[in-house]
Amino acid sequence: MRAGKAHSMVGGGGETSYATNSRLQEKAILETKPILEEVIGEICRTLLPKSMVAADLGCSSGPNTLLMVSEVIKTVADQCKKAGRPPPDLQFFLNDLPTNDFNNIFRSLEWFEQKMDKKTFIPYYIAGLPGSFYGRLFPPQSVHFFHSSYCLMWLRQILEGLKSKTGTLLDEGNIYIGETSPPWVVNLYAQEFKNGFSNFLNFRHEELASGGQMVLTFLGSEEKNLSIGDERYIWGLLQDALHDMVSEGLVEREKLYCFKVPMYTPSMAEVKEVIQEGGLFDISRMQYFESNWDPFDDSCDDFVLDNLQSGANVAKCIRAVAEPLISSHFGEGILDELFSRYANNIARHLLKGKAKYHVLVFALKRRG
Ligand SMILES: C[S@@+](CC[C@H](N)C(=O)[O-])C[C@H]1O[C@@H](n2cnc3c(N)ncnc32)[C@H](O)[C@@H]1O
Repeated sequence: MRAGKAHSMVGGGGETSYATNSRLQEKAILETKPILEEVIGEICRTLLPKSMVAADLGCSSGPNTLLMVSEVIKTVADQCKKAGRPPPDLQFFLNDLPTNDFNNIFRSLEWFEQKMDKKTFIPYYIAGLPGSFYGRLFPPQSVHFFHSSYCLMWLRQILEGLKSKTGTLLDEGNIYIGETSPPWVVNLYAQEFKNGFSNFLNFRHEELASGGQMVLTFLGSEEKNLSIGDERYIWGLLQDALHDMVSEGLVEREKLYCFKVPMYTPSMAEVKEVIQEGGLFDISRMQYFESNWDPFDDSCDDFVLDNLQSGANVAKCIRAVAEPLISSHFGEGILDELFSRYANNIARHLLKGKAKYHVLVFALKRRG
């Protein structure tokens, strides 16, 4: 299965939509603002583009899409003001898979224009760009800045190597890398990430203008022991709910056995290795931060105040991301029951302590 509808987030602005449930990802955009400002400042100072082309890869649809755009506009305006020169025109491309809800973004543009602070106003143009970022998206050397947040852990496809000669999926019962997955399964996920990310870097290198840069933020994993916030638990707790539904006859066992989540959360070292092996980019900045599973929990301590509420919040956040993946495989009928069980499983897991995602940020500068 190639990246398609199942990889997209829940569209529209309804209760279960990504637009309504993307506070976790919003926090990452705000956390990486200082890096974004430094990188954009550098592009403005060194490349002096008359018109600057920027692209957000995997923009989705919702407030985060335009938050990103407004951050870039403000930063370009500030940096040019500091340097005492007129700002460039800004051409913005919003990229995502063709199944993304681009209409929702376009409909909010009028509201966005009204809301933009007129003092920081610089001429900008916004266009949608459907297509996979694992393929070629732009003409050679035509882009100055790429941004991508919470996307690159999504793999290009379901792992072919997980299929037997007869086409059935191996590592039965695990929907992701599980505690019972043998090392060769972990290697398959890792290799698929490596191949996809290396392709991504090759294409972006062709598309970036000389001196162009990228800021890439995505979920990673810890190199040490399995922490309670590891991605394996996020999917493992969903898997537990699916298994319970199989034993109650609500989900077909065969369906569960041929379902895999096309995601891999690499370690910092794995990402660095792919970048360094490719030799196309210099790493100008690297950052690691943790983010509480519960998107509404902004505290830094390790204490879970209300595990039931947190369980419900996490389940909503994951549903907005994974609903298309689940419903295209199991059908829409199981969604409410599945995510209600999932919320309970998460609540129970959080009794062990506060679970945190590991987030990696890389600023990369094109070589040559
Ligand atoms: C969790 S959302 C992040 C959206 C947004 N960047 C944010 O920070 O809120 C991940 C997005 O990546 C997109 N995506 C996944 N694989 C993709 C691919 N191969 N090409 C383009 N977009 C992709 C999904 O459709 C989804 O909109």
